Formats: sequence, structure tokens, C-alpha cells
Amino acid sequence: MAYEIGPMTLPAAKAIARWTYAGEYAVYSFRPDQETLNELMSGAYFACTTRGKELVGYFCFGEAARIPTVEADVYPNGPVDLGLGLRPDRCGRGEGAAFLRAGLVYARHAFGPQEMRLTVACFNRRAIALYTHAGFCPQRTVTHRLSNRPFSIMTRPTDP
Ligand SMILES: CC(C)(COP(=O)(O)OP(=O)(O)OC[C@H]1O[C@@H](n2cnc3c(N)ncnc32)[C@H](O)[C@@H]1OP(=O)(O)O)[C@@H](O)C(=O)NCCC(=O)NCCS
Repeated sequence: MAYEIGPMTLPAAKAIARWTYAGEYAVYSFRPDQETLNELMSGAYFACTTRGKELVGYFCFGEAARIPTVEADVYPNGPVDLGLGLRPDRCGRGEGAAFLRAGLVYARHAFGPQEMRLTVACFNRRAIALYTHAGFCPQRTVTHRLSNRPFSIMTRPTDP
């Protein structure tokens, strides 16, 4: 699958705001309201399309990809944080590795970090499997300040 990643557009943000993830993944659904649109249009989010311009997912980089934690100082300077979401109907079909790779390549060109960092809910075995296969290693487990649920912070050196 060939992907293109570019700045978020309002039509794409409006579509993403309406995406709903099923079952345990429902926590990743956005609320379809103005606050969500503001966040998606903040400059931190990027739309991912196929070359045919079909919207298939989004990435976010930096602060937007972090979570508020009970523990202090869990995000040392250096790595670039990456958040991502594949369109719900495409999830669970083996597309994750290529999708993640596209985001990593984009981040390498756009930000040139030495290291990439992801924060993932510990219940999300699917995402953790994907990140582990892509070479991410768990650094520490932290507690979400609002939900009190455990999350894993994972890092991986950037490809040369
Ligand atoms: C996370 C996401 C990118 C993964 O992409 P995907 O296409 O759904 O995942 P895949 O089908 O490629 O599966 C990834 C791996 O997880 C494995 N997997 C799937 N379901 C699993 C489960 N319940 N438990 C453990 N492993 C699981 C798959 O077998 C695959 O491993 P493999 O390469 O060894 O076969 C995608 O599901 C997504 O964007 N979801 C939105 C919400 C979300 O989870 N966001 C992550 C925020 S950190």
C-alpha cells in the first residue's frame, strides 16, 4: 500500500471526528464536536491517504501524542512522539505495519529525530504487537492521570 501523508484538512478532520472504533477500542473514538475539530486542525495532526486520495488514517507528532500522567517527567527531551489511527474499517486486517512505517518515514524526514516514542494503553495488545514487531521497546509503564489506567511508553531509534 502506498500512502501519502500531508497536513490535516477540514474535510478530513470532520470525517475522522466521526470515526468510531468497535469494542474495547471504542476509547480511541473521537467526540464529533468542535473541540475535536480544533485539536485535529491544531497543526499537530496529519492526514494519511492512499495515492488515490482515499483517507485511511491520521498521525500526530509531538505533545499531541503524549498523555497526562500521574508520574512526573515521563517524557525526557529528545525523542519525537508519534500517535496514530487507522480508519476503523481497515483495522485488524494486517495493514498496521505498512501504515506505521509510513508515519515513521514521514517523521524522519520532517523532524529528523534520533529516536521515536509511542505511548500505548497496556490493554491494547494489537498495537503493542505492532510496535514490538517494528522494533519499539518498552521504557516504562505510566498511569493515565484521568483514567488511572496503565500505559506503556515505548521507544525506537530512528532508521539511518
Ligand atoms: C493500532 C493499529 C495501527 C494497528 O493496525 P492494524 O492493521 O489494526 O493491526 P494488524 O492487523 O496489522 O495487527 C498488528 C499485529 O497485532 C496482532 N494482533 C491483532 N489483534 C491482536 C490481539 N487482540 N492481541 C494480540 N495481538 C493482536 C496481529 O496478529 C499483528 O501481529 P502479526 O504482524 O504478528 O500478525 C490500528 O488498529 C489502529 O489505528 N487502531 C486505532 C486505535 C488504536 O489502537 N490506536 C493506537 C494508539 S497507541
